[in-house]
Amino acid sequence: MTTDIQQQITALTERLHHLNYQYYQRDISEVSDQEFDQLLADLQRLEKEYPQLALPNSPTQRVGGTITKQFPTALHRYPMLSLGNTYSEVDLREFDERVRRGLEGAEFAYVCELKFDGVAMSLTYEQGQLTQGVTRGDGTRGDVVTNNVRTIKNLPLHLRSDTAAKQPAEMEVRGEVFMPLPVFAELNAEREANGEALLANPRNAASGALKLQDSALVAERRLRFFAYSFLMPGRSMFPTHSASLEALHAWGLPVSSTWRLCRSMDEVLAFVHEWDKKRFTLPVATDGIVIKVDDFRQQELLGYTSKSPRWAIAYKYPAEAARTRLREVQYNVGRTGAVTPVALLDPVPLAGTVVKRASVHNANQIAALDLRLGDMVFVEKGGEIIPKITGVDLAARLPESQAIVYPATCPACDTPLIRPAGEAHYRCPNERGCPPQRKAKLEHYVSRKALDIDGLGAETVGRFFDLGLVADAASLYDLPAKAQELAQLERMGEKSVQRLVAGLEQSKQVPFERVLFGLGIRYVGETVAEKLAAHYRTVDALAQASVTELAAVSEVGGVIAESVAAWFQEPANRDLVERLRRAGVQLALTGEAPQAVSNRLEGLTFVLSGVFEQHSRDELQALIQAHGGKITGSISKKLSYLVAGDKMGPAKREKATELKVPIISETDLLAMLPTETEANFNEVEGLDTPLGDVQDLGFSSKSTEPDTFPAESSGTGQQGSLF
Ligand code: IVH
Repeated sequence: MTTDIQQQITALTERLHHLNYQYYQRDISEVSDQEFDQLLADLQRLEKEYPQLALPNSPTQRVGGTITKQFPTALHRYPMLSLGNTYSEVDLREFDERVRRGLEGAEFAYVCELKFDGVAMSLTYEQGQLTQGVTRGDGTRGDVVTNNVRTIKNLPLHLRSDTAAKQPAEMEVRGEVFMPLPVFAELNAEREANGEALLANPRNAASGALKLQDSALVAERRLRFFAYSFLMPGRSMFPTHSASLEALHAWGLPVSSTWRLCRSMDEVLAFVHEWDKKRFTLPVATDGIVIKVDDFRQQELLGYTSKSPRWAIAYKYPAEAARTRLREVQYNVGRTGAVTPVALLDPVPLAGTVVKRASVHNANQIAALDLRLGDMVFVEKGGEIIPKITGVDLAARLPESQAIVYPATCPACDTPLIRPAGEAHYRCPNERGCPPQRKAKLEHYVSRKALDIDGLGAETVGRFFDLGLVADAASLYDLPAKAQELAQLERMGEKSVQRLVAGLEQSKQVPFERVLFGLGIRYVGETVAEKLAAHYRTVDALAQASVTELAAVSEVGGVIAESVAAWFQEPANRDLVERLRRAGVQLALTGEAPQAVSNRLEGLTFVLSGVFEQHSRDELQALIQAHGGKITGSISKKLSYLVAGDKMGPAKREKATELKVPIISETDLLAMLPTETEANFNEVEGLDTPLGDVQDLGFSSKSTEPDTFPAESSGTGQQGSLF
């Protein structure tokens, strides 16, 4: 029986490794996404049932799910140095001269590679298995982020062995972890729509993601990896860097195929010029070219300075800037009412595209730059996708240039704008009356991650809104009654209407957490919606929750809690919920509510604070609730216990001491729960351990859908082949 299961697990694991390799290394989809998901789900189910049989580096680990409270550090076996930088071709010629002298006239070659703008990562493979991922840190010691690294989908968890060159028993691969530009753009668009702070650039986004404690959240950031160096104990098994890159590729590691062997500095400069513009067609941010002496013995001969190798240098492209005229400033109103100025420019080519619009961020920025209409301005594209205005050419200012008057009222509905304290944006407070806000809310409701209504995209719903056919989310469900009218519309027809009607019907099966996300409550992104749905289970329970209660749910801070409570206070919003209920939309989680396991903690309230050792906060919260206890967010006299983890703020401790609330540890809490025998004695069903299986206590697991990068991000025709 067990051998049979083991065989199934092995077969599934190997099949999934193979499919990943085909997909990420060779751009071949052997099976559909659904089939892939099914195989992964089968393996997950088996591994959950028989955890002792799971293979190391199982592909299920890519989904994440581990929590690391604090990353241990590890010493780098070989220090991670940085590269000498230059912006000038003259410097490159001088570098070439130094190399030539150092090698005393011997023949040599360079390898040119793109310099990817992400985070350096050191990976250890032992017997072909990925065993460790460590960040650069200070170059000598870095953070061990192995579980987070395992979620990077194009990174093999084990290497191919059916290759000409066999891997050494232990080896280190270094490379760059990065966030692909389309992913960065998508995440930021979502953040903007949810009123969350934007990620500054793809590099920060990648480095932030690697430091997340919950690897399931890292998986959602869709990071990718490119390998650029190979290290092994003793002398390298390859004569040259280029041979090692070829081997890394053959072993299944992602090596960008953009590298080139160059026989002279002239060839290097030709490569530098070639990629000057072409790099903008890649779905990854690049900021220069790395030039390395190819032969490992020659590298050794040249040696190192204290900071960097003498055999390599980085050429950095200057930040791309253009000069053009500012014609007009438009003001856009977003879903949450934030008003953002957008500069309309005379079209100008910049970094591979023609720029017509640029962001100016906010009113402060307009004042700081002293921008005037008609000015000649400088626009730059940094790591950011949207170019921004970085300065004004004051010498070229025309006498007729006009000051920019920031509007005092909403450009769409004329309501006086407000600027909440501490916020950079002006906001239109007319949430329910302001047409662009209402329209954007509808677009959000039908969007892919919310109700995902087949036959009703953003454009169509926007059109319906403009035509007065729909006013809010609930009125979408009146559309079937208007089928005849809809079919008369241009570009609609009966087929489209049928599809839309079916799509609306299907959307009534969309689970509660996505409906909650679709309501577009400020600060309630996907993750928060999931947490709130799992915690409260029904919209009614959620609507009644106080700010303090809400703030106690993990991932829900005070600002979010206030926003949620305020939303449900609003009669118009309650009315919307009622109308959605009548339409048949899911406003509660289906399935079994988490089983009460015992009543040991009945009547007790707990505050969880800090970072815990044995369980995540979610798990502890679920445990407390499963044993009849209550969680709250703030410390009061009535509180039974403050459960203190690592890094708990001193203010909480002081307050608890002052109010004489007992402070206990995670271990103390766990000791309060019934033991296994007690639990069995109480005839509690469905539990393998006294703590139960937290996965079954109402937590939704993350989507395992393999995303379609890079196929999805193609568009220039050459991107696919680069990955
Ligand atoms: S080689 C001895 N190759 O650029 C240093 N680095 O200071 C060996 N980087 O943070 C580094 N692309 O992570 C090398 N193709 C590439 C690279 C690359 C990006 C990063 C690297 C480091 C910085 C170099």
